[in-house]
Amino acid sequence: MSAPDTQPLLAIRGLHAAYGNIEALKGVDLDVAAGEIVALIGANGAGKSTLMMTVFGKPRASDGEIIYDGLDITHAPTHHIAHLRIAQSPEGRRIFARMSVAENLRMGADVAHGSKSERSEDLDRVLTLFPRLKERMHQRGGTLSGGEQQMLAIGRALMSRPRLLMLDEPSLGLAPLIARQIFDAIRILNQKDGLTVLIVEQNANHALKLAHRGYVMVNGLITLSGTGAELLERPEIRAAYLEGGRH
Ligand SMILES: Nc1ncnc2c1ncn2[C@@H]1O[C@H](COP(=O)(O)OP(=O)(O)OP(=O)(O)O)[C@@H](O)[C@H]1O
Ligand SMILES: [Mg+2]
Repeated sequence: MSAPDTQPLLAIRGLHAAYGNIEALKGVDLDVAAGEIVALIGANGAGKSTLMMTVFGKPRASDGEIIYDGLDITHAPTHHIAHLRIAQSPEGRRIFARMSVAENLRMGADVAHGSKSERSEDLDRVLTLFPRLKERMHQRGGTLSGGEQQMLAIGRALMSRPRLLMLDEPSLGLAPLIARQIFDAIRILNQKDGLTVLIVEQNANHALKLAHRGYVMVNGLITLSGTGAELLERPEIRAAYLEGGRH
């Protein structure tokens, strides 16, 4: 039997990152354990997207450490990081608009270098999760609805066989019913496949219900953390992110 694995899958320590002289991250500490869903919430401009992008090396960390699976990846080039089975669905989806759904999914699979049978297994899994995509395999990405594009962005990330999936605002701009489908899919991936997820959301209510733990970021710093349930109960969270906010 191997020793219990107490080391987080992703450990971020004292992370700083800047755009020119704008300091977007000012010493962030955040852990994601294997098998967890962790939500990162915070107002516009807090630095949430920057945190995710810094894991991929763009922008580069100016100080602090990013440790993934025990490996210091703080200064690793972006193309190396994609091969470490970390996948990202960035804010604004960024699918390939001129490519078909099938081609978009293939782009994700190319990162994984899986065998033919692994690819077809992964494709089945994505199309079972998002049957909508199955009906639209030959349609251009750019002509999909917002919800379908989000499904495609997540599907493409899944095709790279990630251990850690980072999602930046997957529910942004989606009707509540479609947003719920996306959150349900994330829950299924976590529960069935043990996928580890770091999710950035302004929809704090949904995100904290979905997540095992959450962090609140204000102005480049983590100001609060706890279980999803604990954070949902906190009056300052309710006031800032739930009551009267985007639900
Ligand atoms: N490419 C860039 N160049 C200069 N400043 C940037 C750039 N990207 C982000 N910033 C600044 O860094 C800060 C953090 O931005 P970031 O996009 O990480 O916030 P966020 O929490 O994801 O916000 P939102 O909820 O609006 O997506 C903001 O002040 C933003 O203006
Ligand atoms: Mg953002």
